[in-house]
Amino acid sequence: MSKDLTNTENINYSPEKIFSEAEDFLPLLGTDYVEFYVGNAKQSAVYYKNCLGFQTVAYAGLETGVKDRTSYVLQQGKIRIVLTTPMSPDGDIADHVRMHGDGVKVIALWVEDATKSFEETTKRGAKPYMVPTTEKDEFGEVVRSGIHTYGDTVHIFVERKNYTGVFLPGYVEQTSTFNPAPLGLKYIDHMVANVGWDEMNVWADFYNRTMGFANLITFDDKDISTQFTALMSKVMTNGNGRVKFPINEPAEGVKKSQIEEYLDFYKGAGCQHIAVATDDIITTVKEMTARGVEFLYVPGDYYDTVLDRCGEIDEDILNLKELGILVDRDEEGYLLQIFTKPIVDRPTMFFEIIQRKGAQSFGKGNFKALFESIEAEQARRGTL
Ligand code: FE2
Repeated sequence: MSKDLTNTENINYSPEKIFSEAEDFLPLLGTDYVEFYVGNAKQSAVYYKNCLGFQTVAYAGLETGVKDRTSYVLQQGKIRIVLTTPMSPDGDIADHVRMHGDGVKVIALWVEDATKSFEETTKRGAKPYMVPTTEKDEFGEVVRSGIHTYGDTVHIFVERKNYTGVFLPGYVEQTSTFNPAPLGLKYIDHMVANVGWDEMNVWADFYNRTMGFANLITFDDKDISTQFTALMSKVMTNGNGRVKFPINEPAEGVKKSQIEEYLDFYKGAGCQHIAVATDDIITTVKEMTARGVEFLYVPGDYYDTVLDRCGEIDEDILNLKELGILVDRDEEGYLLQIFTKPIVDRPTMFFEIIQRKGAQSFGKGNFKALFESIEAEQARRGTL
């Protein structure tokens, strides 16, 4: 894989095209799960169920013989999350929560062969996190291995072809009497990293070299800037396009970039947002709002010109305006998107809700309106 990462031609929407000459040495079937280390998993689980529509799936903790942690597994569509909290002040989980607050620890990737995935990535320079390990119970076996990525975040490769259990060995199926309805979230569209000054290319190169990802799109600080703040971003994708990791770094502006604010509060690089796809963003966002999710505010005048920029769309613009949903168009179609406010008290992690109607891009046309909205929030926090 020798894709030129410094290419300034900044749009290449077709993973098939950029991968046609490459052997994919790390075939990924998709995202397997995302594990958050949190201060209170029991209460977080209620937020994810009530506000975001996730459903109870599995549990590990004292009752199942796990002494050092408690984990809740929740699912909606193909999106599986694990909320894990430490049971004592000692150890990696407690250290992670103390340093970062609640945040993403593991971005787990579903593979055919976790041992080969470990070998292929570590021989190309990835730092080992977990050597290939087989876990078994009455439902079969799962092989997992892992490597370090940006900050304290890790990737775990999950091979589950010989497993029929509900999640992983060690977890038991859990049911609940509190089951708010799902909200139409289907799969993870992309997961974004925030990294430090001058580190975007370092991590783009890491994904290229050790995992065989290619650069799909590059946004420089001219694409992503307002009067006050700026950032740069490279979108990295795997061979079949199922896994996309945009990587942001701060850029010089008159005032403090939102990426810098994140790095200050997260205490280093980490996952900034998870974009989740829906087929009906209006219904999803209306219901989330009713259940207490707070979204970024978009100035009303955004809607005065959006149709001039994006042309005809199926949705009623007044519905979009009422909810604050943004629209953007590229050569292949359009997309609808909206961003939550941070879902934790530190201004760090948030969710994006996205509905793609043909468009394969990331909402470049909305960056300015969006970042002005984020700046308004930063100003309220005194961190602009
Ligand atoms: Fe995004």
